[in-house]
Amino acid sequence: MYVPAREFALSDGSICVMKSPTANDAKNMVNYLKEVAKETPYMIRYIDEIEQSRREWPIKLKNASEQEGVLYLCVFFNQKIVANGTICHISTYRKVRHRASISIAVLEEMWHKGIGTTLLHELVGYAKKMRYSQIELEVACSNIRAISLYLGCGFQIYGRRNHAYKIDGIGLIDEYLMYRQL
Ligand SMILES: CC(C)(COP(=O)(O)OP(=O)(O)OC[C@H]1O[C@@H](n2cnc3c(N)ncnc32)[C@H](O)[C@@H]1OP(=O)(O)O)[C@@H](O)C(=O)NCCC(=O)NCCS
Repeated sequence: MYVPAREFALSDGSICVMKSPTANDAKNMVNYLKEVAKETPYMIRYIDEIEQSRREWPIKLKNASEQEGVLYLCVFFNQKIVANGTICHISTYRKVRHRASISIAVLEEMWHKGIGTTLLHELVGYAKKMRYSQIELEVACSNIRAISLYLGCGFQIYGRRNHAYKIDGIGLIDEYLMYRQL
């Protein structure tokens, strides 16, 4: 799915643009992913893994904008990607096609300005438009900021996966399984 650009104001009054990234934004996207991976242990990829997949991003973003059940939604500030949210299907098989998986991350320099909340509400709205009836996500049990954000947006915790991540320098950590009906 492709979402065209629209402007919105942050809680400090500055203006950002929200839109689906295109193949032309691939370099910007890779830089954003590397910055997030450096700032937080809670992303799935290490920096070297992002670097390895660098060349795949133009086609990945092009395909995502053309696929019905998939959405990348970026927030740009001064042309730089500072946040991204994604929606994708758990699987395309009909029995589970009602379930979407989402993820979200904001660069630390832009925290506390309402971007996370705005992006999450947009994702919920688009998931409904995409005819999903349930959205799901996983979040590390220690990620209090993200858990508060999700609870505030109507998600609930329905389970816990032990030893979900094995993080260099931290060790094994558990994650909560959360979901929200649409
Ligand atoms: C979690 C994250 C997306 C929040 O983004 P953000 O743009 O700072 O979010 P907002 O400014 O919209 O704040 C949203 C909510 O986060 C929670 N929050 C913000 N700061 C918090 C803090 N210091 N302690 C606890 N909760 C906090 C609150 O519920 C807040 O809602 P409120 O403003 O009504 O109190 C961001 O911190 C992030 O990207 N973290 C790193 C990546 C990550 O962990 N992603 C989630 C992986 S599952």
